[in-house]
Order: sequence, then structure tokens, then C-alpha cells
Amino acid sequence: MKEKVKLNDLKIGMHITLPSSWLSHNFLKSNFLIDSTALLKEVQSQKLSHVIVDTEKSSLQEEPTAESLAYLSHNDAVNDPKNEPPPEEWNSHDAVPDTLIEAIESKKLSAEEKAKAVYLNSLTMMKGLLEKPTAENIHASKAAISSITDLILSDDKMAESLLRITSHDFYTYTHSVNVGVSSLLLAKALFKGSDAHDLHELGAGFFLHDLGKVKVNPEVLNKPARLTEAEMRHVRIHPYQGYKLLESANALSEECRLIIMQHHEFIDGTGYPRSLKGEEIHVYGKICGIADVFDALTAERSYKKAMTNFGALTLMKEKMISHFDKKIFGSFVQLY
Ligand SMILES: [Fe+2]
Ligand SMILES: [Fe+2]
Repeated sequence: MKEKVKLNDLKIGMHITLPSSWLSHNFLKSNFLIDSTALLKEVQSQKLSHVIVDTEKSSLQEEPTAESLAYLSHNDAVNDPKNEPPPEEWNSHDAVPDTLIEAIESKKLSAEEKAKAVYLNSLTMMKGLLEKPTAENIHASKAAISSITDLILSDDKMAESLLRITSHDFYTYTHSVNVGVSSLLLAKALFKGSDAHDLHELGAGFFLHDLGKVKVNPEVLNKPARLTEAEMRHVRIHPYQGYKLLESANALSEECRLIIMQHHEFIDGTGYPRSLKGEEIHVYGKICGIADVFDALTAERSYKKAMTNFGALTLMKEKMISHFDKKIFGSFVQLY
């Protein structure tokens, strides 16, 4: 059944058709599934009175419990009329939402509820950091990522849920959290029982691997089509820019440096910025590079459909394996 629905009444899980011509909105496709908070907000920001919802293609998510609701990010809470308004003193520029720390420390939530609360609040944190990458915010975010890392290392069930609930929109903050989570799980699997690795600094590097994108022109970053050669060259400054940002904030560990500078290097020498080959790329760079490609393939962009996890892993194995360390890729496949 098709129903007219006002923008404010839209929910994640609704399959919508935009009523007007594609010239009047920001999307290249005019029908799609709202599968993330970010996409929901993007639709709600359009100058449209309503959209058409196909109820048969929609699968609304279960209403969260009162308990889990309390831990959802403020950004989601303000859009939900059932919630209290955000407290007076809440400041949208606070780098780390209190609700993230509450979610991490909660003893009451189930593994799934906890994963959802940590994930949504991590998105809020990364969004804030990318909007305002000050030294203070970088340090506060690194401390929160360190707590998320402890949680991922100690709670296997929650960590597995985190992998399952990732959303696949095209925002850098979503990508950063997704790559942060999956790279950390891969590092956990590879380095289990070894004291030789500082997983907290690795976690920071994985979550912050694309911080330098704040220095890339947003029009190029969000261009809904393939980039030209000149635009590619511009995007390729982001590893170095991320390195500089962390260095000037006095927050650059060796782990972060390796991850940020090497996450686009491929072992066949076709990556950037230095076209490193094989063992010239550190294992930390290799881990993040695999998680990065996987998240890019599974993300939905306005000009391309998202691949399924299975489809992305198959493509990486069959068409891109020369880019990756086969053993590390094999461990990554085991996560899914
Ligand atoms: Fe990147
Ligand atoms: Fe990335």
C-alpha cells in the first residue's frame, strides 16, 4: 500500500518515493529505503511537503525500550516527540556526549541495546569532531574511543552486535565509526593474547583515519559522481592533513601515524600517497585499508547502490585481492 506521509512523521525503515522531479531534491534516485538517521535527516531537510511511503517494502524497526531510549544520542532524541527535550546545558559542540559514556558504562542494557546506544552516540561524537576538530575535541574523542576499545575487547557479544547494526550511508562520520569498529575487531582477532600492540592507540587511529577529510572541499567529497583526476588529487591530501591535525594537537602516536598515512596504500603498490608495496606497509595500515574498502563498497551513495556484505567480500576476493594481504583479508572475512 502507498501512503502520503509528512516529513516529520518519517521513520527509519520506511521505503519512500519522492513525489517531485529529481531536479527539486538532492537525491539522484527518487525511491529508496531510509536506513539510517543521517539519511532520515537528509530527507527531512528537503523542501517537500510529503513523500510517498510504500508500506509493503518498508520494515519499521522495533520501538526502542524506555531504557534504551535514554541512551540514544541527543540528535535522535530531539526528533522523537516521546523524548524529553535535551537538557538546557547540553551543548551541541561538546565533543563527547554524556550519553556515550553512560552507554559504555551501563550494566542494565542487553548486548544489542548497548551496541545500538554506543553506535549511535559514537556517530554523534564523530560528527561533532569532524565539524570542530580542535585539539581539545581530538583529545576528548581519543579518550572516549579508548573506553569504546575496552568495551569491544571485553564484551564479545556487544562487539559482534556492533558489526551487525552498522548503517551504510555516505557520511564521513558514519564511515569513520564503521571502519573504527571493524578494524578494531580485526585487530582483536589478529593480536589476541599478544602484549606487543597498544589497542587503544590502534582504536584511535582507526576511528580517526579520515580526520584529514575536514580539509577536503565538501563539494568534491560529496560529489554524487566519479571524481575527475584533479579532484582525486585533491582528495588524496587527506592522509597527510589528518597526520598534521593530530600532530599539531599533540595527539599523534606512532600507531595513529601509521594508520592515517597508510590506510590507502595497497600491497601491489597501486595505493597512495606513497605507492608503498608489500611489507613496506605496516600491518596496522593493512588492517585499516581492508576495512576501509569494505565500508566504501557496502555504503549506499546517491549514485550507487550499496553492496551486501557478502557481495563486497566476494568482489574484494575475486577482483581486488592483489591490493590486500591475503592472510589479513582471510581473518577479516571470518568476522562476517
Ligand atoms: Fe581515507
Ligand atoms: Fe576511509
